[in-house]
Amino acid sequence: MTNVNTLDLTKLHAPLGAEICGLDLTAQLPKPTVGAILSAWYKHQVLVFRDQKLSPQQLVDFTTQLGEPGRPRMPSQAVRDIIPDLPPEIMIVSNVRVDGKPLGLAHDGEMWFHSDMCYAEVPHIATLLYAVDLPSSGGNTKFANMYAAYENLPSEIREKLRSKKALQVHDYKRTERPGVDLDLSKIGNYAHPVFVTHPETEKKALYVNRLMTARIEDLERDESDALLEQLFSVGEDPDIIYEHVWQSGDLVMWDNRCVTHARTDFPHEERRLLQRTTLVGTEAPR
Ligand SMILES: [Fe+2]
Repeated sequence: MTNVNTLDLTKLHAPLGAEICGLDLTAQLPKPTVGAILSAWYKHQVLVFRDQKLSPQQLVDFTTQLGEPGRPRMPSQAVRDIIPDLPPEIMIVSNVRVDGKPLGLAHDGEMWFHSDMCYAEVPHIATLLYAVDLPSSGGNTKFANMYAAYENLPSEIREKLRSKKALQVHDYKRTERPGVDLDLSKIGNYAHPVFVTHPETEKKALYVNRLMTARIEDLERDESDALLEQLFSVGEDPDIIYEHVWQSGDLVMWDNRCVTHARTDFPHEERRLLQRTTLVGTEAPR
């Protein structure tokens, strides 16, 4: 039996992440346990809860114990037809198609590194993904430690970009850099600092990513592109990445302020369906 103040936690053999066993997330957790989960999350950046059996509402109830859940945009009619009681806090991430239309967002294939909602003024701080249907192989989620990326940057780059901002945009196609001539009036976009300070840990993290960062503000295009390429390669160094191979019943929670994530390809003819919730933020990254 887990003591309410301590967790059955094992640090992963990886540059970030920890696995928590022995918790039934369908239960109302004692406040100290919730506090211990949040502390572990700040420390390890990615938490993996194994062997869960959660209804959509139970996933929302657990999320609500940790903070205020985000509300994604309205699910498609196809989703509402298939899961009529889907709570509004859940977004479906899936390649499953109904009448040719994808049930969820971000459906097929590989997806480059990104930070969820970094194009918003106040991005959601956490994303939780719960595995429902998994393909026989692939569809892994890679997590990159952006504290380590910051630490690994050459000091002259840290100095040069110390007070610079980068434009983050909601114009992605999973494996393409944002377009050069974006019409920003039509897409979500926001310029955030290239380096952000986590409000809980006070540690600095790299806050750019290949999928959603369009440019560094106040630099010529060529210089911005060259610097971004350098930042991306440091941010995608295999030495700072944990690759999560999903098991049925996994719930994984990560911190968008200090972690980027990406997805590996998987057989497109096989079902992959996960349920996603988020925790809203209260301030713009600084
Ligand atoms: Fe994502």
